[in-house]
Amino acid sequence: MLKLQAMLSYGFLENTMTNILLVTSSPRGEDSLSTQTARVFADKLQAAHTGATLTKRDVNADPSPHLAESLVHAIRRPAADRTPEDIAALAHSDSLVGELQAADIIVLASGMINFGVPSALKSWIDHIARSGVTFRYGPDGAEGLLKGKKLYLVLAYGGVYAEGPAQAMNFQEPYLKTLLGFLGLTDVEVVTIEGVAYGPEMAQKAVAAANERVDALVAASAR
Ligand SMILES: Cc1cc2nc3c(=O)[nH]c(=O)nc-3n(C[C@H](O)[C@H](O)[C@H](O)COP(=O)(O)O)c2cc1C
Repeated sequence: MLKLQAMLSYGFLENTMTNILLVTSSPRGEDSLSTQTARVFADKLQAAHTGATLTKRDVNADPSPHLAESLVHAIRRPAADRTPEDIAALAHSDSLVGELQAADIIVLASGMINFGVPSALKSWIDHIARSGVTFRYGPDGAEGLLKGKKLYLVLAYGGVYAEGPAQAMNFQEPYLKTLLGFLGLTDVEVVTIEGVAYGPEMAQKAVAAANERVDALVAASAR
């Protein structure tokens, strides 16, 4: 009892709490395979990490506006020179960045649209990639500032891009890995659900394989 009190007073217990952020982005609502799989994934991660919090951000249901001139100016202006209008323009971006900064584990779901990511996810990215906040340039070049976090990408595809000439047409996974890696999220695992446009049997198999991978990743995360 005494030991527990001492741990609480030193904040040891609070510091070990895991914060999970679930970002979903599909425009296909409840039919979305990336959303369904990522939700199960995040719930299982939460169950595996005692006391973990789970924050949900659906960037399609609650979209970030396209970059506007006011936001670009606000982002670029040094913090000390910002006007009240700049601060108001940055409020949404600040809250999205805050969610990422608070997260220890990020589960990000995306389904390929026209060879890339859904436009709602691209808009979210435009709000979270902030020089001096989520990345910076120093003497050694670019440095990501979202460090020490685990990133799980849950990616759905109508086609199959794992091998052959179609690999070069996958602008979803390389883009997300490059961009999020640039922000410091380099510890990444990918769950792929592919070939879902080839009929229900193939889709079912793809989802089953993804769920198996989710279970293996959750088990590894809890160790
Ligand atoms: C508008 C639209 C465009 C799509 N474009 C592609 C594409 O370029 N390549 C592909 O393999 N699948 C494409 N698909 C299929 C989706 O990637 C597939 O349905 C996937 O499951 C979507 O992810 P979700 O289930 O999480 O919504 C497209 C689907 C839609 C609705």
